[in-house]
Amino acid sequence: MPEADDLKTSAQYHPETPQKAEAFFLKGSESLDWGMKNRLARIFNPTSGRTVMLAIDHGYFQGPTSGLERVDLNILPLVPYADSLMLTRGILRTVVPPSAPKSIVLRVSGGTSILKELSNEGIAVDIEDSVRLNVSAMAVQVFVGGEHEKESILNMTRTVDAGVRCGIPTLAVTAVGKEMKRDARYFRLAVRICAELGAHIIKTYYVEDGFETVTASCPVPVVMAGGKKIPELEALAMAYRACREGAAGVDMGRNIFQSEHPIAMIQAVRAVVHRNETPDKAFALYQDLARQG
Ligand code: R5P
Repeated sequence: MPEADDLKTSAQYHPETPQKAEAFFLKGSESLDWGMKNRLARIFNPTSGRTVMLAIDHGYFQGPTSGLERVDLNILPLVPYADSLMLTRGILRTVVPPSAPKSIVLRVSGGTSILKELSNEGIAVDIEDSVRLNVSAMAVQVFVGGEHEKESILNMTRTVDAGVRCGIPTLAVTAVGKEMKRDARYFRLAVRICAELGAHIIKTYYVEDGFETVTASCPVPVVMAGGKKIPELEALAMAYRACREGAAGVDMGRNIFQSEHPIAMIQAVRAVVHRNETPDKAFALYQDLARQG
């Protein structure tokens, strides 16, 4: 009888205990819808508030980059150590097993190659395909100050609009032309423009001087791009400083997969990002793991 059941279970309603309203852990994301937050929580670790995103999307404009010639052989062994993979749909569908329990940040801008003007990109993936692939975010290159600045910014805003309709966040990548100065002033400008126009995560380069002003003036999480390969200790120190200066982790490619010991390197990066390990200790970990093979 329903009435009898009601009497027995009334104590389980706990009318004296208000339902908890848990604040979302990521900067600037509180007002997002559930699906957006859920996807962001697959990219960023809710405990540390940071991510180790492994960027392997380089082929979309430069072909088989050194270290990415065979993603199946060289990159899949790194996947268990990444929180998220940033890659193209071509590599995702052909090489990454759908059972790999990793969040996917899908490169959706493209249309140029290293042989031509790089800023001349368009949106290269339909939103429906991002939904079909169950991605956790879409990544778009933004060339502030570049020849095709306006088009690249509008690629981003269109991606944001399409993503908002489906609950998929957008990651804006601040791309810097060769002739441009990579300083805090430039990155404050580029990063802030992306955030103002709706990006949910921004990927940008580290600068020695004033990086904390870049992260502080950005209302959404900033992840540090790795850039060209540098010695492991220096890359770990850069990640360490970036996180201390406000980055919500890294989106690193070449400094991991071009390392002599990529599996050791990604674990050392994790130690820095998620456990605030100092560069020296993380480098010692790298050496130990490298020795163990
Ligand atoms: C380019 O600008 C792309 O986003 C790259 O393909 C990639 O994500 C860069 O990663 P990294 O500089 O760490 O190799």
